[in-house]
Amino acid sequence: MKLTSEEREMLAGSQGRATQKAMQILVALGEIYGAERMIPVTSVQIAGVSYDNLGEAGLQFLSEMADGGGNTRVLTTLNPAGMDIENWRNLGIDPDFAEKQQRVLETYARMGVTTTCTCTPYLTGNLPSYAEHLAWSESSAVCYANSVLGARTNREGGPSALASALTGRTPEYGFHLPKKRKPAITIQVSARLEASHDFGALGKVIGEQIAASKAVAYIQGIQSATLEMLKSFCASLATYGGAALFHMQGITPEAARFTPPEGRVSVTQADLQAAHQSLNEATTAEVDFVSLGCPHLSIQEIARVSTLLEGRQVKKEFWITTARTTKQIADRVGYTRIIEAAGAIFAADTCCVVAPIQGRFTTMATDSAKACYYASAKNKFRTVFQPFDEVVRLALK
Ligand code: F3S
Repeated sequence: MKLTSEEREMLAGSQGRATQKAMQILVALGEIYGAERMIPVTSVQIAGVSYDNLGEAGLQFLSEMADGGGNTRVLTTLNPAGMDIENWRNLGIDPDFAEKQQRVLETYARMGVTTTCTCTPYLTGNLPSYAEHLAWSESSAVCYANSVLGARTNREGGPSALASALTGRTPEYGFHLPKKRKPAITIQVSARLEASHDFGALGKVIGEQIAASKAVAYIQGIQSATLEMLKSFCASLATYGGAALFHMQGITPEAARFTPPEGRVSVTQADLQAAHQSLNEATTAEVDFVSLGCPHLSIQEIARVSTLLEGRQVKKEFWITTARTTKQIADRVGYTRIIEAAGAIFAADTCCVVAPIQGRFTTMATDSAKACYYASAKNKFRTVFQPFDEVVRLALK
């Protein structure tokens, strides 16, 4: 790879041990993927924050980078942690786990990371502009950044994202290159899409179509989509198809640059219905855990929860997962008071997938196709997949 003199200095170690290690990681990655040079990034988002995923080896790696003088050069935020650092006792988290999770966050903070822990960084101040180059990790956020915002990022692993944070660089390959952003398959959608969970089901259908080829999809037939629908779609498409980029005609910013590819697949109402059915593995009577916020809830969604819960009492454990900064808005405008009075629990800066809750429940209700996937694969829960309002009602039964 061709490196600038500053990048060569980083690699030689004259800017500290951690920067050297970070540049070594990036050069190795660039060589594997045939990158010709490094490019500057403006923002980083790091996954691998929950101690449940990191373990002692991961924490050790982070400590070595912090001890080696690692310091971020660009805005860097984190993916959800394994617990809410304020409310972990109410969420049933073990004190030993809490202590280790706290150490992880402190280590990131020592390196100058902004320790907001969310999969929706674009809702909480880490909001890149069109064509900016990033190094983000969380799959749903990567898909959102590339597709909805028109920014440019590969899906980084935790170590490579940290390496970009400490150097301000990423190797130029993959979705950083305009030619790799070209769609290769047209998806014609005729199914009715009324709510964000329909977009989650659609992401499953399209994801399963493109999972093997990893083709960038050019999607036609969708008239409108809210931010909440798009975040649901991105999470699901990334989960079921491993997709980091799609174009949606009339909705995403780069779609107008391309003509629809010739290879064409239809998504009908029957396809959508089949996806809905496959995500409903259990009956509503079996639900013992309810969770909303995968990806993390927007303030508008929290407002809706508060309207539906006002003056009522939940009968099941009900997690509201969101970024702490979004919750702080909810605190100020009174939604938190209403939601907590109803007995629901905020799980800020964490989520039902990264928290260590395997074995505590048997059946989870959610409106998120992504949460269904991981509830089943990671936590061995059975799933009930319903519209947002219905999920809240299930918590009340
Ligand atoms: Fe976010 Fe956790 Fe879902 S990280 S996208 S809420 S699995």
